[in-house]
Amino acid sequence: MSNPLQGQHILLGVTGSIAAYKAADLASKLTQAGALVDVVLTEGAQHFITPLTFQSVTGRKAYTDADLWGGEGHVTHIGLGRAAQWIVVAPASANTLARLAHGLGDSLLSLAVLASHCPLVLAPAMDVGMFEHPATQANVELLVQRGAHLIGPAEGHLASGLTGRGRMVEPGEIVAALRYLAGRKGPLAGRRIVITAGGTQEPLDPVRVLTNRSSGKQGFALAQAALDAGAEVTLIATPTALPVPYGARHVAVRSAAELLAAVQAELLGADALIMAAAVADFRPAQPAADKIKKHGAALTLTLEPTEDILALTGAQRAQTGWPRCLVGFAAESRDLLENAQAKLRAKSLDFIVANDISATDAGFETDTNRVVLLFADGRSETLPLMSKAEVAERVIAEVVQRCAS
Ligand code: CTP
Repeated sequence: MSNPLQGQHILLGVTGSIAAYKAADLASKLTQAGALVDVVLTEGAQHFITPLTFQSVTGRKAYTDADLWGGEGHVTHIGLGRAAQWIVVAPASANTLARLAHGLGDSLLSLAVLASHCPLVLAPAMDVGMFEHPATQANVELLVQRGAHLIGPAEGHLASGLTGRGRMVEPGEIVAALRYLAGRKGPLAGRRIVITAGGTQEPLDPVRVLTNRSSGKQGFALAQAALDAGAEVTLIATPTALPVPYGARHVAVRSAAELLAAVQAELLGADALIMAAAVADFRPAQPAADKIKKHGAALTLTLEPTEDILALTGAQRAQTGWPRCLVGFAAESRDLLENAQAKLRAKSLDFIVANDISATDAGFETDTNRVVLLFADGRSETLPLMSKAEVAERVIAEVVQRCAS
């Protein structure tokens, strides 16, 4: 289940707006994501940027209205419109929105859209007054009613010097939104997956916490892979600087107790729980209300055990039958397989992802991981060193087998 934009045929319409310069970055990012990008520039767009810019980043011909009248053939617009699996207009000017809303066939881009059967994605860019004008609003409403996906515009500084809603959404976010949309027909469509990520923080006093070295990277990669497979994803995460994958519902927690409460609330109606979080097994029994002062003497902390969230969920599943799929991680510094096997059974999991955290190229804080999957039926699969994104794809492929109907 790789990036769903891989191999997708995208027609990128670029129209007359200063944001057209950002469309080159968008075309490049889409190409890097594995999409085949055909660019069509309107006449307005060519005042800001040239076809050559797009050809240089996509490695494919970029089209203009000149191709409509002669050029390679008299049905270029039909060919482009029919070949496209997605049409993305970014930036979408007020003029182009009006043309598309009213079905005008006076440019290669609007003709290609008329000839297409694929989803239409619009990223408007214009001055705030133009976007808020009732004519533009009515056009946007009409297009959305017909099924177009609207991305933005964002609030911020505008070329006119004004501030307001009218900026084209940044190319990276447009790619993320497209990736999300492209994943919607995946094998987990309609399935809800709850994923936990990161290391919990247990307060010692108002300033200090007990925590661990988990970065959250594997959990966030799992969320992206589940989204790519079409799932609705709730990502319950402890504080981290990682960006939340586009389309995931983010629930922020800190302590093991908060994580437990969030898992129980989010699990209602969910199909799977993947516990990638490194949950504290102990917390300070009595966090100090004020900052603990140093007095020269040693400090003794009393810790009390936390709830085992997975074990609780496993026991709950034995009674209710849900969630259908329960996945755990085992972070081990010795006797990897024996310890992971014991956790698999004790917590009634479908499978466990066993992680040797003593390696320097795998486990905490790295971008790569080396794991063994241990299944409830006794099978096991040793995976080679791979990126956390690839590990996530393998794990989600197993979840698909258990959750897709
Ligand atoms: N886990 C949990 N609740 C806890 C502790 C762990 O749900 N209080 C989950 C983790 O998210 C992970 C799995 O249980 O998916 C195993 O966690 P790990 O820390 O490897 O093992 P523990 O069960 O805590 O056992 P130990 O620390 O003794 O190795």
